[in-house]
Amino acid sequence: MVLKHVFAPGRIGTLELKNRFVLAPMGSGMAQEEMITDPFINYHVLRAKGGVGLNIVEYTAVHPTTRNANIPSLYHDCFIPGMQKLTASVHEAGGKIGVQLWHAGRQTSSKTTGQPIIAPSAIPNAVYREMPLEMSRESIQEIVEAFGDAALRARLAGFDMIELHGASGYLLNQFMSPYSNIRQDEYGGTLPNRARFAVEVIRNIKQKTGADFPVSYRITINEYVQGGLLPEDIIEVCPLLEEAGADVIHVTSGMLETVHETIAPLEKPPGFNAVFSERIKQAVRIPVIVVGRINDAAVAEDIIASGQADFVALGRTLIADPAFCRKAEEGRIDEIIKCIGCNQSCISGQRPDPEASRNYGPVCLRNPVTGREYLFTDEPAAETKRILVVGGGAAGMSAAIHLQNRGHQVTLCEKSDMLGGQLYLAGQTPSKREMAESALQMGRETGRSGVQIILNTTVDPELIDSLKPDEVIIATGSVPFIPDIPGHEHSHVKTAHDILRGETTGNRIAIIGGGLVGMEAAELLVSQGKQPIIVEMQDEVAKELVPSRKVFAKELIAKHKIPVYVQTKCISISETGITLEQTGACFELDGIDTVVIATGSKSLDNLSSIMELKGVPFHVIGDAFRPRKALEAIYEGVRVGQMI
Ligand SMILES: Cc1cc2nc3c(=O)[nH]c(=O)nc-3n(C[C@H](O)[C@H](O)[C@H](O)COP(=O)(O)O)c2cc1C
Ligand code: SF4
Repeated sequence: MVLKHVFAPGRIGTLELKNRFVLAPMGSGMAQEEMITDPFINYHVLRAKGGVGLNIVEYTAVHPTTRNANIPSLYHDCFIPGMQKLTASVHEAGGKIGVQLWHAGRQTSSKTTGQPIIAPSAIPNAVYREMPLEMSRESIQEIVEAFGDAALRARLAGFDMIELHGASGYLLNQFMSPYSNIRQDEYGGTLPNRARFAVEVIRNIKQKTGADFPVSYRITINEYVQGGLLPEDIIEVCPLLEEAGADVIHVTSGMLETVHETIAPLEKPPGFNAVFSERIKQAVRIPVIVVGRINDAAVAEDIIASGQADFVALGRTLIADPAFCRKAEEGRIDEIIKCIGCNQSCISGQRPDPEASRNYGPVCLRNPVTGREYLFTDEPAAETKRILVVGGGAAGMSAAIHLQNRGHQVTLCEKSDMLGGQLYLAGQTPSKREMAESALQMGRETGRSGVQIILNTTVDPELIDSLKPDEVIIATGSVPFIPDIPGHEHSHVKTAHDILRGETTGNRIAIIGGGLVGMEAAELLVSQGKQPIIVEMQDEVAKELVPSRKVFAKELIAKHKIPVYVQTKCISISETGITLEQTGACFELDGIDTVVIATGSKSLDNLSSIMELKGVPFHVIGDAFRPRKALEAIYEGVRVGQMI
């Protein structure tokens, strides 16, 4: 693959950039008491070293009315020295760096800011539900000045650019949108009036920092809410921003209420905002950045080559792999740890262990040590050992790679005919192919690292005797948990894993359990033209999914009119139907030809006791220890990989 366009130099105003990749601003939670910390600096340096052309630092408070202890600030000179250290470190690493200036408006709480929250109009945000104070003209002027002052501090601190956070439902966005702005004065009503605040902010910044200091304006192309901003509005407004002095438009989509469009999960196609950035490009003469699920170098190249945007911003792609750009440039595409849009860790706040506190930034399912890589450096082992890893799922592969990288002689035995385990199985539904691909990529990485892989092999005492390992990693995963429902032994009762492995079913299928795995089975079955129904004991299906993915699970149910029985228990299974119990009443559903059990899993570990008897040191990781998610499995692999 030739990546000519995306590695061509680019320019934003006076700022020369070595390539077209931009690190998207992402709140990391790494600031402490609004100050930049060492992990914060490490995080940015690593991405600069990883080859990205421009880092944009996360949303940064311009005024005390938007302060948050875990978000950096620039509303006072006391914040300049920390920022200076950050910019100097990134410059030294060969990068360029901008900072995103931000005011939350009504999209925060007075508990967080310590003072009343403000907004263009006295309308509470649907998520925070706190009534804001409507801003007076004086208050508007104060915030305009605050943006300008913060931009000047940014320039003094050594930043190469600032970006205005005009998206995601924050203050600049609130002014622009009729959804949140019902003012009757010159800041409300017509689109140019609603854009006035943004225009004044840009002018104030340019006046204070000088015309040559580049300003990016991040804008949401569509709020996806009733009465909100639409692409037509944004196309009309961008020339006003350009005229005011913006040097680049950064196109995103959605807002807090529609975060599934902003931080879009794998159900949305890679690069989905490029059709919109293309339209913006036709409306302005300044360059355009586009963001949104650009997780593949080829997709990035296409966007730039086809002229849909001038720059591509990478968010989660650079959480998952800080070295994405360098690997792409060096042609090491298959070594990239690709973001699969699972949203399972980076925005859910899930942590694989208490050590992975917010101080280290967002965690990634594919790369659970992102942000604290310097603590997991694969240093050569003091003594080379023969290590047997049992199980080729996510945990086993992760452990094997790191142990081999550290100089051990690793043999990995897998009882099936391929590596990948449940991560691969989860990717068997049409919208989750990237999950399966990530499992396959881990398998290839395991091979590349030099691990000896033995497939179709169940590890037993004889094999252990012949391999003579110094230590054993038990990563044998889990098996489906089958509840003791009368009739579960019928031949038409299968597990969700059977379905994902491709076993055939009848046409009317009852899925018992509407969690993550049950939903995967449902998606696969409807894609095959089958008619599943879902029975779930809890009060909703897909309960453990993050909101940004739940939206798509619910869409699937609505689109295919899948009958869902919540707060319902399956109490028996017959040859042709099931009996359900809902709030104490029992009823039967007939005409069911397959029953799929998706009621969780239980650990599979037949080896610990054998190892104990043999006196061989062993470590049980992943689901074999306790059934959890891929995040924990991969993390425990990395961790054990550093321990031996
Ligand atoms: C953990 C996290 C924090 C984010 N914080 C910000 C932010 O501070 N400012 C902003 O404009 N967008 C923020 N975003 C949105 C990203 O900049 C980006 O637009 C979004 O993740 C889509 O890009 P991606 O698909 O490459 O991840 C955040 C996203 C994530 C995952
Ligand atoms: S947790 Fe999932 S969505 Fe988030 S960065 Fe990692 S792979 Fe991407």
